[in-house]
Amino acid sequence: MTNVLRHAQATRIDIRAAEAAGEFMLTISDNGKGISEDETSGLQSLGLLGMRERAILIGGKIDIAGVEGKGTVITLTVPIGRAGGPSDPAND
Ligand SMILES: Nc1ncnc2c1ncn2[C@@H]1O[C@H](COP(=O)(O)OP(=O)(O)OP(=O)(O)O)[C@@H](O)[C@H]1O
Ligand SMILES: [Mg+2]
Repeated sequence: MTNVLRHAQATRIDIRAAEAAGEFMLTISDNGKGISEDETSGLQSLGLLGMRERAILIGGKIDIAGVEGKGTVITLTVPIGRAGGPSDPAND
């Protein structure tokens, strides 16, 4: 959300949370200028790196997709609810 405010020049943000097929998905979409490939993979992108690290820590992942002039979609996917799965505290 901070990234959208700081970088995107968006007028709209959509936040969706959904559960399907044993996965929780959180999607944050904006209608701003769109993040570029260089920006998603740049080593100076510590904010995005931190998001990826935190997703991995809970067994999930982050996907980032930008389309120039259309906006950016960030998707967090985390497996849930399966006994013995990555999110089962019994594995700790
Ligand atoms: N929603 C977005 N729309 C367009 N560009 C974005 C968006 N989010 C991030 N970016 C671009 O990706 C870059 C990397 O984002 P990242 O959050 O990693 O770094 P930052 O926001 O510049 O610095 P910080 O470390 O304070 O988060 C940004 O500098 C910006 O250029
Ligand atoms: Mg940032």
